Formats: sequence, C-alpha cells, structure tokens
Amino acid sequence: MRVLVTGASGAIGTRLVPQLIDAGHHVIGTFRSPGSAERLRALAAEPVALDLLDADAVRNAVLASEPDAIVHQATALANLRDLKNFDRSFAETNRLRTEGTDALLAAAREAGVSRFVAQSYASARYARDGGPVKTEDDPLDPTPVPATRETWAALRYLDETVTGAGGIALRYGTFYGASNDGLVWPVRKRQFPIVGKGGGVWSFIHLDDAAAAAVLALEHDGAGIYNIVDDEPAPLREWLPVLAEVLGAKPPRRVPAWLARMFAGEAAAMMATEGRGASNAKAKRELGWELRYPSWRQGFVAAYAATATSDGSQPHRAARARHSQA
Ligand SMILES: NC(=O)c1ccc[n+]([C@@H]2O[C@H](COP(=O)([O-])OP(=O)(O)OC[C@H]3O[C@@H](n4cnc5c(N)ncnc54)[C@H](OP(=O)(O)O)[C@@H]3O)[C@@H](O)[C@H]2O)c1
Repeated sequence: MRVLVTGASGAIGTRLVPQLIDAGHHVIGTFRSPGSAERLRALAAEPVALDLLDADAVRNAVLASEPDAIVHQATALANLRDLKNFDRSFAETNRLRTEGTDALLAAAREAGVSRFVAQSYASARYARDGGPVKTEDDPLDPTPVPATRETWAALRYLDETVTGAGGIALRYGTFYGASNDGLVWPVRKRQFPIVGKGGGVWSFIHLDDAAAAAVLALEHDGAGIYNIVDDEPAPLREWLPVLAEVLGAKPPRRVPAWLARMFAGEAAAMMATEGRGASNAKAKRELGWELRYPSWRQGFVAAYAATATSDGSQPHRAARARHSQA
C-alpha cells in the first residue's frame, strides 16, 4: 500500500516508518520543521512538508500523493513542560486532533482513501471510579478535572470522528523508549514525586510496540477503538521507584496531594492519585498484536539502562539485572 503518515518525523513516526517499509508498504511521510526531510529520507520515506492546520495544503498533499491509507500521528508536544496549564500546553496538539483530523478525513473522502488510523490516548481518560483497569467499552471520565477539559474533548472528538468515518483510533498509553522521553529528566532530577499514596494507575507503551500496533491496524478491516498499552498497568508508587532505579537516580520524593496540586497542577495530581489504566485485550484479540515489551519493567531497562545519567553516573547494575529478568 501507499501509506501517508502524518507526523512521520516525530517520536512515534520515526519508529513507524521503518516498520511499514519492512511490511512492504511505500511511505509518504509528512513533516513540518526544516531538517525533518533529511531524517525521513534516511528512513526511506518520501518526505512531504505539510502544516496540518492548513486545510488547503492537506487537501493538495493527499490528492497529490494518492495514498491507499493514512496514519495520523502528528502532535505538537516537543516543548511540553507546563502540565499546570494542561489545556494551554496541549492547545496546538488539540487542533491537530480536531482540525487536522477533519482536514485529513475530508481529503481522504475526496481521494477515495478508505483506510484511516489515528493516534489517540488512553491513560487517565477513563472514569475515575470502579476498577483500576479499563476496557474500550468503559465510560470515559464524565467530569474531567477542569485543566484537562479541552484536551480530553479533543481526544473524544478524534475517537468519534475517526471511527464514524470507518477508521481506527489507537488509544496509546504513555510513550517511552527514547532517551529524551519526557519522564527521564524530571525523574533523574528527583522532580517527579510520589503524590499522596501514589495510587494513580498508569499504562505505558514502548514506542516500538506502539508502532507495531499501527501497522496491524492499517491492515485491519472495520472501524474501532483500541487501547494500545502494555500488560502491566501499575500505580505510580510502583513504577516510579523502578524507573528511578533504572535511570540511576535517587528514589523519588513523596509529597502530599494538596502540595502537588498547588505546584504541578490538578491534571498532574489527578494522574498521580486517581487516574485509571487500560486493558489491551481487545487489541491482542482483534489485531493479533503481540508485544515486544509486555511490561515497562523490561521496557525501561531496554530503553534507558545503556544511557549514562546526566551527572555522569551509570544506572544501577543490580537494577538492570533484576528488572530485565522480571
Ligand atoms: N501517548 C504519549 O505518551 C505521547 C503522545 C505523543 C507524543 N508524546 C511524547 O511527546 C514528546 C514529543 O513528541 P515528538 O518528538 O513526536 O514531537 P512533536 O512535536 O509532538 O511532533 C510529532 C510530529 O508531528 C509533526 N507536527 C507537529 N506540528 C505539526 C503541524 N502543525 N502540522 C503537521 N505536522 C506537525 C512533527 O513534525 P516535525 O518533526 O517536522 O516538527 C512531528 O513529525 C515525545 O517525548 C513523545 O514521546 C507522548
């Protein structure tokens, strides 16, 4: 198939392009920043400069590249620092998920493209009651904390619009698998604490497994929503000390929830104390997806253990051995 990948030069896109090519597809990869074209050429994709917020440009790019399928993986999260003003930090990504998706779907309809797969998000979006692990059929949070309302609404819009058009929305867990992952720096600096009892459940996914699911989704007939997460949703108090150890950092500090709300914001505090994880049973069953990293326990080691910490120390060797066998 000729596959148009938006966000091909990003964290997930650069893992997805080689997997699509290995599966025999021709990849047209979109990018926005100068310099990304070379990166895509090196991955054997055909680079196309495209601002997804320009609907005319989207239409022209889709019609010109004549794809059989589109995978929408574009976000604007490279400079994400401020979780306190959550919706403000996600504003451009929200537009990529609403306006960008609309423009792509309109162009896809015009060009007769029948396969459409888009990046969504699972972690902490499900209702904060009942069990700790949610399936795609469980309700989303009906009363999101105010700071996340626009972001959660954009994701809901994407899920509904994409599946309404016959496509697939992949609700990813929290990505990891690159040395510059967002959690690495704050955990190394002990700036990511266990909040309250640390009961918020997180679902992680290694970037390579996330990309593999997109390849399978592309070959799957019919609309649907799939949680793309690993086998071990876990509370913050469990995974964070392991990550700190793997990174060679000191154990995380502990702070009360009110303090976290004050300094990190209500979204971060909610994720740390009340968020729910997700089940991957449907994706395994219907897409035939198998994980290379079934748990963050092995995945963190694979992703980070070889890297030196910023202060020059090495990750703890015993931690490496212990968790890689887990
Ligand atoms: N589920 C998750 O946990 C999740 C989801 C997404 C991202 N993240 C994390 O967020 C961090 C940043 O992600 P990233 O490195 O992929 O960078 P990013 O800035 O989010 O960019 C992702 C892709 O979208 C493209 N893009 C951005 N704005 C665009 C626009 N207006 N029109 C068309 N394309 C546009 C980028 O192009 P250029 O490269 O050319 O700028 C890039 O290809 C990473 O650590 C990643 O793991 C996590």
